[in-house]
Amino acid sequence: MFVLWSVRNKDAGRLARDLNQARALLEQREHERDLAQEELFRRLYEERELNKEKAQFQSQLAEYEKYAALAQLALGAAHEINNPLLGILSHLELELKDAADLEERQEIEQCISGAKRISSTLHGLVNYARPGPLVLSKISLHRLIEDTLAFLEHQPMLRGKQLENTVPRDLPHIRADANQLSQVLMNLLLNAAEATGEGGRISITASKLTFVDMIEIRVSDTGCGIPPDILAHVFEPFFTTKRGRGTGLGLSISQAYVRSHNGEIRVDSVLHHGTTVTLTLPIRNEEVIENAKEESEIVV
Ligand SMILES: Nc1ncnc2c1ncn2[C@@H]1O[C@H](COP(=O)(O)OP(=O)(O)OP(=O)(O)O)[C@@H](O)[C@H]1O
Ligand SMILES: [Mg+2]
Repeated sequence: MFVLWSVRNKDAGRLARDLNQARALLEQREHERDLAQEELFRRLYEERELNKEKAQFQSQLAEYEKYAALAQLALGAAHEINNPLLGILSHLELELKDAADLEERQEIEQCISGAKRISSTLHGLVNYARPGPLVLSKISLHRLIEDTLAFLEHQPMLRGKQLENTVPRDLPHIRADANQLSQVLMNLLLNAAEATGEGGRISITASKLTFVDMIEIRVSDTGCGIPPDILAHVFEPFFTTKRGRGTGLGLSISQAYVRSHNGEIRVDSVLHHGTTVTLTLPIRNEEVIENAKEESEIVV
């Protein structure tokens, strides 16, 4: 009887041990399954992100290809149009010299101004399609912006509007192409002036970003703002809402110039309240220097 009890007791002990082992094994398998599930989710997520990036990259590539084709077309067209246009212009200028009649003079002057407008559009187009090599120098942004504003101050389109330059004088000098940068600022200030009514304010400010060797320049206006559906297109070449008055190249050329400096340009806008364009530019521009013509230490 005792022997039987002891055997049963041993069996029960073994069974309990087996059961515990089986439970532990089950827990371990469950844990492994959870880990495998987590890994699967992580990989699915990564794959989705990769697919997103791939789609973005492909659409960017398509965009670059579109612009590259457009740039080639633009250069060809500009060349074909510019030569006869220069001939027409010099002929008109000769005619203007000989014209005695006031009405005739006015008509010729109108033709000349139209031809000059075509020529300046072509110039913009060529600049967009083939920006010249960068000519770098050390630039004081405060001075550059002061000079640009001084040039614009007396333009009729800025009459009755407040212009504010709060760029600190002690901002570090940046290495950039002064001519390109001043063209970018001019484009942004003209856009701001065109969008702002009398009594409006246009301000320009700049600061050094913390932790990175970059500078941010902001051109803000209290103008009409840009509707979101238009905002998505403002950097496209020839996109304009100023029919007959704008070429739609201002922002696309500005973007090309800023990118050639390894910088970024961004537009934020609130409809009926105003627009801010932000430029982010490297201070030293080490990478660009290698491919650029460097002028001696000129401080603009
Ligand atoms: N500050 C701004 N406020 C409101 N709209 C703006 C502003 N800046 C740009 N835009 C919008 O973006 C469009 C494109 O600007 P962009 O400077 O490229 O061309 P444009 O000013 O129309 O012509 P261009 O500069 O060649 O004379 C403008 O037509 C306008 O609709
Ligand atoms: Mg413009």
